[in-house]
Amino acid sequence: MATRKQEQLLELKTRLRQGGGEKAVEKQHAAGKQTARERLEKLFDPQSFVETGLFVKHRCQNFGMEKKETPGEGVVTGYGTIDGRLVYAAAQDFTVIGGSLGEMHAAKIAAAQEASLKVGAPMICINDSGGARIQEGVDALAGYGRIFYNNTMASGVIPQISVIMGPCAGGAVYSPALTDFIFMVKGTGQMYITGPQVIKSVTGEAVTAEELGGAMAHNSASGCAHFAADSEDDCIAQIRRLLSFLPQNNMDPAPVYPCGDDLNREDEALNDLVPESPNKSYDMMDVIRSIADNGDVFEYQQHYACNIITAFIRLGGKSVGVIASQPKFMAGCLDINASDKASRFIRTCDAFNIPLLTLEDVPGFLPGTQQERGGIIRHGAKMLYAYSEATVPKVTVITRKAYGGAYIGMCSKHLGADMVFAWPDAEIAVMGADGAANIIFSKDIKAAADPAAERAAKIAQYQDTMMNPYVAAARGYVDDIILPSETRKYLISAFDALAGKHADRPRKKHGNIPL
Ligand code: HXC
Repeated sequence: MATRKQEQLLELKTRLRQGGGEKAVEKQHAAGKQTARERLEKLFDPQSFVETGLFVKHRCQNFGMEKKETPGEGVVTGYGTIDGRLVYAAAQDFTVIGGSLGEMHAAKIAAAQEASLKVGAPMICINDSGGARIQEGVDALAGYGRIFYNNTMASGVIPQISVIMGPCAGGAVYSPALTDFIFMVKGTGQMYITGPQVIKSVTGEAVTAEELGGAMAHNSASGCAHFAADSEDDCIAQIRRLLSFLPQNNMDPAPVYPCGDDLNREDEALNDLVPESPNKSYDMMDVIRSIADNGDVFEYQQHYACNIITAFIRLGGKSVGVIASQPKFMAGCLDINASDKASRFIRTCDAFNIPLLTLEDVPGFLPGTQQERGGIIRHGAKMLYAYSEATVPKVTVITRKAYGGAYIGMCSKHLGADMVFAWPDAEIAVMGADGAANIIFSKDIKAAADPAAERAAKIAQYQDTMMNPYVAAARGYVDDIILPSETRKYLISAFDALAGKHADRPRKKHGNIPL
């Protein structure tokens, strides 16, 4: 039989776990949102979540706060398992004073961050908050600062995942922005520095919160988010899926899953995929699906800079990060946004020991004033930097075009690719044959009796001499030329051969990637 003190404890725990109470929970549900505890229950393996800090209280004495109880301080923190692996989490409880962040609320999140870093386990933070607790003033700001600092210290050590399932406004957005992955739920998750009301009063512009900072605004326009979910349950399923590709920390390998797919599987359809005309497109997703174990592809930033694909797949059961030109969008050229997207993904994979596979069909960097003035030089340089600095195994397949600086930038041998394969249709050259012939044979073409015929002949000459993979293979810049149908088996064996790779870099405080 429980003693009185034990009963009091259980009563207190029950009351605190009710958060802001029945009415606030009803309001939360009516807004299409689950409570913090409901979310955690679904995210973690059944009955594995252990809550910490339930009894934490605020210390604010302003504006009647001294009389106000804030159960759990408006945030649920703790640890548990996801697919049997340890994960830490903090979930803001909007039912308690709008999930607003005060000194002790922040202290709870910081404690979870510090614990996850100490033991080397992923940290997930579910955001649903009115922002800095206004009554607490600078104490709230100090709390944010501590969280941002912890985010930075943990960066590149443990995977950090932010989940936006409600408002995340003002400076609060900088914690998600400092993490590796941001998920947003459509319709309810919103991030912005200044909200619609402030914008209206300052600039007169009328915009809804969803248009300004909703899931699709950040997944397709700003590129600040990486995954969009149709519902909270869909979001939770996506987070669990992402974790399956990631290691616990930067010292561990990613988990290996039973493959269930033939390692030597060939796909004849790939032999007919690339159109003969270099001006016709095809879908690079067909290649990725074909080579991946069981055709399973998990895209990262699926809706942003669609001229480049970034995705996680498994090859022979092991995680691989794919960076692939997408000829279907803007002919797969590299622009500012594609460079940013790819660079961030490359660094994320490298930080967490996930080998890189590059699939290349790139006609070059996008020309134009907008790109030049937008800083394509600086942004494109990020890709060169990210690939060069990455020490994980790097394998490249050139499926068709590999022109100019973009050829170098898409993980060529010169940036440290460990293995480079080319398909027979590959064209590795400074530029396309038309452009090349126009420049180097301009005098011959002008002087010819039939300039059009001369031009066609010179293009054909350049095409025959240069637009193939054999020139690069003769220099050793391409390790092998393979049939498209054989790609999967070559990749699996290449990554297996590279599994023991060690690459050293010069000692330095840190590099200076062009930002
Ligand atoms: C204290 C807050 C709060 C806050 C909400 N609440 N935000 N309390 N500080 N920041 C309280 C409300 O008073 C209310 O309390 C309860 O939470 C629920 O809020 P509602 O407004 O009823 O909910 P809803 O209609 O869904 O609106 C949600 C909201 C709105 C859009 C988030 O509450 C809002 O605009 N809040 C203020 C947002 C804001 O400006 N925050 C400061 C940003 S600056 P009761 O008792 O009535 O239930 C910032 C700086 C961070 O965050 C800098 C870091 C570096």
